[in-house]
Amino acid sequence: MDIKADISRSGVTQSQIDGYSRKTNDAMDRLWSGEEDFTGWVDLPVQHNEEALEEVLMTAAEIQAKCDCFIVAGIGGSYMGARAVIEALGGNRPGYPEVIFAGNNLSGTYHKRIIEKIRNRETCMCIISKSGKTIEPLAAFSLIKESMRQKYGEKGAAKRIYAITDEEKGVLRKEVRREGYQSFIVPADIGGRYSVLSAVGLLPAAVAGIDVKRLIKGAEVMAKDPAWDTDAADYAAARNVLRERGRIIEVFEFFEPSMEYFGEWLKQLFGESEGKEGKGIYPETLSFTRDLHSMGQFLQEGNPVLFETVFRVDSPSEDIMIPASAGAPLAGKTFGQINRCITEGVISAHEKAGIPVITVDIPEMNAFVLGQLIYFFELSCAVSAMIMGVDPFDQPGVEKYKKEAEAEINRL
Ligand code: PA5
Repeated sequence: MDIKADISRSGVTQSQIDGYSRKTNDAMDRLWSGEEDFTGWVDLPVQHNEEALEEVLMTAAEIQAKCDCFIVAGIGGSYMGARAVIEALGGNRPGYPEVIFAGNNLSGTYHKRIIEKIRNRETCMCIISKSGKTIEPLAAFSLIKESMRQKYGEKGAAKRIYAITDEEKGVLRKEVRREGYQSFIVPADIGGRYSVLSAVGLLPAAVAGIDVKRLIKGAEVMAKDPAWDTDAADYAAARNVLRERGRIIEVFEFFEPSMEYFGEWLKQLFGESEGKEGKGIYPETLSFTRDLHSMGQFLQEGNPVLFETVFRVDSPSEDIMIPASAGAPLAGKTFGQINRCITEGVISAHEKAGIPVITVDIPEMNAFVLGQLIYFFELSCAVSAMIMGVDPFDQPGVEKYKKEAEAEINRL
């Protein structure tokens, strides 16, 4: 029932991996020391607070009883993880509130449509922002809040508004205290993109009907077993060997569309953690087989700057037979079988073209396995960034654009 990452088709040798052992060991020691800033996520699945988890579950049940529409306003690490989890496990489910994400863009069209939903549906909302000062979610929050106040009155709306933010800092926390919203904290020692296994990801996922205890369990099993540290370190080292060979783009490839947002989560995780000081591996995602008919050409014969990390799901959650009318060779086979043949064909063709391929095998997609995937990539990413000599937990570049944008807004 465990995931398996395999670097044997990447062209990276064991002795090259061993060449990085001092750096990977140092990185692991730092991550597990409990002394580095922003490493609270490392033992979160092991140390997680049962009481806090029960509170998340009770709140989710309360939201499920009150609403059929749950709007979650957040961006970056305060958005991507929750969406990745919900989508990877099948999306919104009948019988549970529809989880709608807002505040992850500044499109008036997008947000106007969300407001229209509030008129016709029983709505609750959650604003998620660690800093409590990010433009997109705050703009969406005020819009949704006003609309909810019109529908439910000020006090009624306050009972349907939830907030996840820093325990002490920020204007959002002040508003929580003033208005009496039910709230959760983003732990101070966990940065946005490493926060999916805190209330940030767990509350929306639980509202959507996902077994968040199993999600945490998957991560916990991995966090407790040192063998996974070795696997994560080997993958991190292999990425760096490939980078040194000029393979500066990692393409995460999925054959299940439900995993596209998991890919977006990976992109943010690696992009923000590694892309600084002129360093990093540029993360890209492709969804197959769709993108084989657009990017397949480039992958096979284009500029050899990339390597591929291919996700294979052994048993898809559902499968369906292709009817006899399709004729040979498709008739009598399932979509899943053909999908698997194409997966193997792609790997084999790309390998023959000299493209390094890493595979990640997923026995079946469920909450437990997803918890493993999340933890595996968080750990690998942090180690890989440390190998490169950058801080995996800051994002000075993002702060720079925010400042410029704020100046533009103030000029309006
Ligand atoms: O990973 C990160 O820290 C960022 O992507 C943040 O999550 C993102 O900028 C949103 O920040 P906040 O939660 O403070 O609104």
